[in-house]
Amino acid sequence: MTYGTLYGVGVGPGAPDLLTRRAIKVLRRADVIVLPRSSYYGESVAWKTVRTVARKPEEQEHLFLTFPMKRDPTRHKEAWDKAFAKIGPRLERGLSVAFATEGDPSLYSTFIYLQREAPIRWPGIRVMVIPGVSSVAAVPAVTGIPLADGLERVAIIPAGYGVTDLVDVLNRFDTTILMKIGSEMENIFEALRITGLTDKATYVSRATMPQQRMVGNIREMTPERGDCFAMIIVSRKERSGVLAGDVSPGKLLEKADA
Ligand SMILES: C[S@@+](CC[C@H](N)C(=O)[O-])C[C@H]1O[C@@H](n2cnc3c(N)ncnc32)[C@H](O)[C@@H]1O
Repeated sequence: MTYGTLYGVGVGPGAPDLLTRRAIKVLRRADVIVLPRSSYYGESVAWKTVRTVARKPEEQEHLFLTFPMKRDPTRHKEAWDKAFAKIGPRLERGLSVAFATEGDPSLYSTFIYLQREAPIRWPGIRVMVIPGVSSVAAVPAVTGIPLADGLERVAIIPAGYGVTDLVDVLNRFDTTILMKIGSEMENIFEALRITGLTDKATYVSRATMPQQRMVGNIREMTPERGDCFAMIIVSRKERSGVLAGDVSPGKLLEKADA
């Protein structure tokens, strides 16, 4: 059977002009655009960007699918079974399907499960990933806080799934990005207090969107549940990123062996 191509399209962090030219091309040409949302009544954030380039509904199908944000994996499976039941027949009819994801499709995106399952359900299907500007790139841009330079190391943590090792992570990495904060704000604040990094943390919600909010002094914040489009960037800036001394890989290994 010849299936339609399945695309995972990164639509960027929110500002429509951060949509790439390749993403625009794929979204315009696709027969069906799939738009994930977190509840039946909630908005699809991806749609706010996609609608700026999508064709009219009579020319192209815009299929909204609900994926509740739950920690319980059985709830995810239920949503995915429903999604497959909708997407499958379209691919089997040879229609091209563009699955829009916020930011980049390869980072904590709903598309990753589809990317893994599609070749099992539809052997021989062509799956293509169109990269997008991730929130991990957008937040450093709007705050002016670089992600990493020189020797600096970066950790990306899906904080909402628990932050029991956060003190260790904050101590080991130069920059820590806390995504999907959910109800973990209080525990994050505590880890920042223990490590003495409270003043090095910046909270950003809805980066590049009209509702963008940045809090440089997070002591001002109450540890209520954060916005679901928020992250905290913690930048120690202790190594300053300058490549000083002899740091060739061989030398580092010698030191580790000593
Ligand atoms: C399910 S993950 C999706 C990440 C996305 N694939 C990406 O590349 O940015 C959702 C998390 O990304 C972060 N996020 C997404 N868009 C954001 C934005 N515009 N501003 C701040 N954080 C954002 C938040 O931490 C949010 O909880």
